[in-house]
Amino acid sequence: MEKQAWWKESVVYQIYPKSFCDGNGDGIGDIKGIISKLDYLAWLGVDVVWISPMYPSPGYDNGYDISDYESIAPCYGSMEEFETLLKEAHARDVKVVIDLVVNHSSNEHPWFLNALEGREASKREYYIWRDAAPGGGPPNNWGALFGGPAWTRDEKSGQYYLNLFSSRQPDLNWENPALREQIYKMMRRWLDRGVDGFRMDVISLIAKGDDFSDGPAGKSGYHDPRARIAANPKVHEYLKEMKEAVWADRDVMTVGEASATTLENAVLFSNADGSELDMVFQFEHMDLDGGETFKWNDKAIPPAGLKAVMTKWQKGLYKRGWNALFWDNHDQPRMLSRLGDEGDLRETSAKMLAACLLMLQGTPFIFQGDELGMSNMRFTSPDQLRDSESINAYERYTGEKMFTKEQMLHYISLKSRDTARIPMQWNGEAGAGFTSGKPWMDVHPNHVYVNAKEQAGRVDSVLLFYKELIRIRHRHLAAVYGRYEPFETENEDVFAYFRVWEDETLYVCCNFTATAVAFPVPKRLRAAHARCLLGNVERSAYLEKGRLEAYEALILRLNVTDIEEAPRG
Ligand code: GLC
Ligand code: CA
Repeated sequence: MEKQAWWKESVVYQIYPKSFCDGNGDGIGDIKGIISKLDYLAWLGVDVVWISPMYPSPGYDNGYDISDYESIAPCYGSMEEFETLLKEAHARDVKVVIDLVVNHSSNEHPWFLNALEGREASKREYYIWRDAAPGGGPPNNWGALFGGPAWTRDEKSGQYYLNLFSSRQPDLNWENPALREQIYKMMRRWLDRGVDGFRMDVISLIAKGDDFSDGPAGKSGYHDPRARIAANPKVHEYLKEMKEAVWADRDVMTVGEASATTLENAVLFSNADGSELDMVFQFEHMDLDGGETFKWNDKAIPPAGLKAVMTKWQKGLYKRGWNALFWDNHDQPRMLSRLGDEGDLRETSAKMLAACLLMLQGTPFIFQGDELGMSNMRFTSPDQLRDSESINAYERYTGEKMFTKEQMLHYISLKSRDTARIPMQWNGEAGAGFTSGKPWMDVHPNHVYVNAKEQAGRVDSVLLFYKELIRIRHRHLAAVYGRYEPFETENEDVFAYFRVWEDETLYVCCNFTATAVAFPVPKRLRAAHARCLLGNVERSAYLEKGRLEAYEALILRLNVTDIEEAPRG
């Protein structure tokens, strides 16, 4: 039987602070704004918030390039305000998890500035240095995720430092015990302040291994070393050490961003023996629409592929590790825009996607605005872009004439990280209720009808559907711990599964298409007089006629005692 824990029974809400709520009218979200929305989050029923970085940062990667791990950036507020946020959240039974970005720091971090002083500098070995290749140039052919080589030359010493993301995010050297000790101390200080855990940025990549050889180059001309690095077993030693040093004696929640990881590694990261982290984000389902030019294309996620990948992870981590479930975050376009409908069926498809995800096994993460059915921003000009990844890609691919400007803006509107980083839509007024000033990113034109204020008062809104889903998760342990059993796996349109737990079984079926489809009703359902817990269409014809309406989702509850053909335990 699955071991029980509060963080398994929790629903997490991700706050992207820059775009959540602006408390002082300067166009940038802040702590004061977050505090003003705690009642909303508590009302929605979320147990935990994860807040993306609010540390001082030059902002090259929107806060994921940290220049001081121990303070709050002035644009977000002060440490005092952060402590108030903790107190106010805790008073509402909401826990707060912060982002830990320790694969790399900013190139403006004092450690790196020291390291640049020369080979003998005291913090030199906090980073990863190599000599130039024999004929000159970078030590190998690795590429950085945000474009260009993964190595940057330091003029003073003539050596190169490693940067897996960008030259402004030098990778930290985890082989150095002094660096590790600094990180652990810093983490303990945040726990002492009262935070309830950490979301660990690209934690799967911290241990680089010894293999710094060239690898096969892709269309970019570079080799992507992430899978090789993520396969290095040393990361598990570091995480075990981290746990012992930081939270072995505390009840916290830890979730690792496991980029480029395998199922077997994810089992180790989220090992049921508790030796490393509580749970992991994996990205296999997010990569289903990738292609030759990375993500810049108009390929769509095939629903059947999505189902297969989700099933692989549901089964693979069962009783061995723990999933973190998500469709969206600050690095992904909205799933509503990827697989749902932005037109007349927007609300129905948003609810379907929500039901499908929140009833799976694992801890669900809702990205701000998911609960309203927010959709991708459609960019019409490069001036609207803010993320270096989109801006670099736009310049590069239009510069090389690989794509036209229109094409590239289209791809960016479909796939970029900017699409989901736009301001939260609180109401229909100018600034979407996010700010009284000029927002740092344009608000989505659809905020006039897609917004929290309108939805809070309407019983059939996406928002109230989310609230109900969260309630179901809290009330029905089958939704948390039940064994996942897919139904009709070959069907291309419908994602259906059982969650089997003690004397309760749930059945979830979701039509991923914009048309009505025929779908068989499982035998054990007919026998069980299943009761509908939640659905997203007015009158479902499923149980009587075996028909699911466009984007229909249904959650049914079966009593095992009612079932003639009881599920195999
Ligand atoms: C993670 C973050 C992303 C960031 C990257 C580098 O993937 O989620 O936003 O750019 O790490 O820190
Ligand atoms: Ca502000």
